[in-house]
Amino acid sequence: MHPDHLQRPLPDGIVPAEVVARTEKRWLGVMVAMLIVMMAVVVLTGMTHAIGPPSNVETIDPTTLHLGGEFAESNLGTAQERDGSLTVRLIGGQFGFAPDCTKVAVDTPVKFRLTSTDVIHGFLLPSTNVNTMVVPGFVAEVRTRFTRPGIYRMPCNEFCGAGHHAMWARVSVVPKEQFQSLAPTERSSCVQQ
Ligand code: CUA
Repeated sequence: MHPDHLQRPLPDGIVPAEVVARTEKRWLGVMVAMLIVMMAVVVLTGMTHAIGPPSNVETIDPTTLHLGGEFAESNLGTAQERDGSLTVRLIGGQFGFAPDCTKVAVDTPVKFRLTSTDVIHGFLLPSTNVNTMVVPGFVAEVRTRFTRPGIYRMPCNEFCGAGHHAMWARVSVVPKEQFQSLAPTERSSCVQQ
């Protein structure tokens, strides 16, 4: 006797159970394969590209920043180049930037150069093109030009520890004539002199 002799034909649109099971098994295989490919991409790029800054690949020893060179304390803040453009050098560390406020001139090319003494921090100036990671061992460089004077707040936007929420600084953008009348020390501080 045929074992299925009592099975009635299924109504239209109902898929037999064994077909459902076979389809599900196939899709499970596809999903596992996709997971394997994605995990492999993560592991391989992690191993071959390591950690690095988003663009400017320039290394620096974070343990000797204070001893001399570009990021020695006396070189931090805003410096004016021969061509009239400005270079701002800042150091990020748990949990603040040094200096915590710099002045730059409006409508002038500004180049920010930052590095970190400890962990990864973030450098963001809202409403501008400035947004980069500050990775220890590397110099982050961003170029911009401010079109409006004012105070630009500079929150650290990479989680860097218990004091992350309190880590922020300011960039004060002032009119050109006012900037030229400032002494070099006044350009690296927003304290009233
Ligand atoms: Cu530094 Cu978050």
